[in-house]
Amino acid sequence: MNKAKRVIGAEHVEAVRRSGKVRLEVMAGDIVTDMARETAERLGIQLVDGPLERPAPKQVDGGAAMARGLYRRAPRWIAPRHAEARSARRLAKLGLIGAGGVGANIAHLAANGDMAAEIALVDIMPGMAEAVALDLNHASGITGTAAKAVGGMDLSLIAGSDVVVVTAGRPRTPGMSRADLIGVNTRVIQQAAEALKAFAPNAVVIVVTNPLDEMTVEMLRATGFPRERVLGMAGTLDSSRFRNALAQAAGVTPADVEAITLGSHGDEMAPIVSRARIKGRPLDVYLSKEQIDACVKDAVTGGGQVVALRKTGSATLAPAHASIELIDHIRGARAGAVPVSVMLEGEYGISGVVLGVPCHLGATGVLEVEELKLSPEETEALKRAADAIAGRLGLKG
Ligand code: LAC
Repeated sequence: MNKAKRVIGAEHVEAVRRSGKVRLEVMAGDIVTDMARETAERLGIQLVDGPLERPAPKQVDGGAAMARGLYRRAPRWIAPRHAEARSARRLAKLGLIGAGGVGANIAHLAANGDMAAEIALVDIMPGMAEAVALDLNHASGITGTAAKAVGGMDLSLIAGSDVVVVTAGRPRTPGMSRADLIGVNTRVIQQAAEALKAFAPNAVVIVVTNPLDEMTVEMLRATGFPRERVLGMAGTLDSSRFRNALAQAAGVTPADVEAITLGSHGDEMAPIVSRARIKGRPLDVYLSKEQIDACVKDAVTGGGQVVALRKTGSATLAPAHASIELIDHIRGARAGAVPVSVMLEGEYGISGVVLGVPCHLGATGVLEVEELKLSPEETEALKRAADAIAGRLGLKG
């Protein structure tokens, strides 16, 4: 009669996340491994003592209703906690400064996902943002989205946005490093910052313009917004590239891979091998050291590979998805820590520089910076990234 006791490992937690759930039921007698607990924390999955209440059957007679009423008061029933009820918020307004490849694709994904009531696009190129908005609205007769797009050259169009994504600026061309864009794009960020202060002073700002870490520092400085509301998008993009590389090398689907990159969005990127898992197991179960090194290199050079092929600009699709991932965390459609570039104030032993680290996000931006246990080499890589960024910004002698 006794149900077999289960050993709940990291792979169970990962399966729960893949199925889109946020709770894992732990029954009396189940053994939960340390790795499972750590994975649950990392992925935002709650381990809940079961049995959980099951949804009520649709049709009931009086007797059944009374029985259920009694059952509800039984000591084993667990009331759902408020924090567990994750309902995605629809943004009132999503502002996009820059309606080029990344901005337009963000608008497209956000409209299709009905993520905002209004999507406002601004671009300095005459007609560009208006054209994207019109094009998107034309598609709504098929998609049925209620999201209304507007576009133009006037930065006041972003007024009242709860989230603003800044993609404006010059992209790389072959042979350029992201850092080569500091001079020209700093001025673009300063203009965007003025508009944010004037028209969307309470917005959560996501910086995508390169060089990402440096431009996020400039956005913080120029807006004077708190660090919680100025986020750089890089880690979600680089992590996706890393997971893709690992999945291809191991011959599994990317959904079977858990892996993140931290550090800078550039040569000092730090793909975190020690915590990466394929089907819940460490990478060396599936891949040789040479293969893992090649995947790390692929993540670091991924953006440059697209620039080399395209020749006139950089990637658009993956950066748009990676920005949407952050928006989804902000609006409560996703839970758990996600790599994002934020100003560090002592976390990981680093201060005064923007760096990619895992963060929990919500409507007000960063809720918490999560300090993961990293290998000594990975911790060192983060410090190197911080020093390099500080050096480029002239913050260190
Ligand atoms: C990239 C650019 C957007 O990594 O930085 O594709």
